[in-house]
Amino acid sequence: MRERLQKLMATAGLASRREAERWIAEGRVTVNGQPATLGDAADLASDRVEVDGRPLAPAEGKFYLLLNKPIGYVTTARDPQGRPVVTDLVKEIPARLFPVGRLDLTTEGLLLLTNDGELANRLAHPRHEVEKTYLARVRGILTPEARQSLERGLTLEDGPTAPARIESVRASGSHTWFEITIHEGRNRQVRRMCEAVGLPVSRLKRIRFAFLELGDLRPGRFRLLNRAEVAALKRL
Ligand code: URA
Repeated sequence: MRERLQKLMATAGLASRREAERWIAEGRVTVNGQPATLGDAADLASDRVEVDGRPLAPAEGKFYLLLNKPIGYVTTARDPQGRPVVTDLVKEIPARLFPVGRLDLTTEGLLLLTNDGELANRLAHPRHEVEKTYLARVRGILTPEARQSLERGLTLEDGPTAPARIESVRASGSHTWFEITIHEGRNRQVRRMCEAVGLPVSRLKRIRFAFLELGDLRPGRFRLLNRAEVAALKRL
C-alpha cells in the first residue's frame, strides 16, 4: 500500500510524523535512490526507502504481542534501578518493542507490546478511549454507595474521572473482588479511584484491553496477535 513517507517512518517507530517531515526536508530520505521531497509516497512492498542510507523495514517486520505481565516487572524498556523490565520477557522477538501504555510495578496482566510506534501511541492516547478491564481485590466491602461513586465518576486530585463500569462483584471474607472497566489511563487510576471510596487495592490484574482478553496465558508468557486482531486494533 502506498503511504506518505512520514507515515511509513512513524509506523516503523523511527520518528514522529513531524520529525520525519524534517528529515525529508533535510534530504536524509531517499526513495529508490532518489532524494525524497515532502509529500512523496511509497509502497514498502515495491519501493526501497532509505533513511540516512539505511533501509526502512517493510511492514512485515511489525510485531504485536500480548504479554501477561507479572508483578514486579517495570513497564519500560530499561530501568535505571536495575529492576526486571517487561522487555526482558520478550527477548526472543528480534525488534525493539514498546509497551502500549503502562501497568504499575505491582499490577499484573494484559500488556500489549509492539514495534509499531504509531499504533502504540494512538492506542495509549486517552482521546481514543480504549476500554480496559481490571480484576481488583480490595480491602473492605463494596457498599452500594461506593459502587455508585465509582460508576458515576468521582474527583481525584488531577480532576474528575469518567464513569466506570463495575461487574462480577464477589465478597470474600474481609475483601471484595470485582471487575472495573475504565477508558482513561491516568497514573494509578484504578488504585486511586478505589482508595477515594475507602477501598485500598490489594491486587490488580488487567484482564481485557478493548476486545483482547488475557485468557489463560500464564504470567511472564506472551502470544503474538493474529492478523485479524491487529487489523481490528488499527480500526479502533
Ligand atoms: N490502574 C492502576 O491503578 N494501576 C495500573 O497499573 C493500571 C490501572
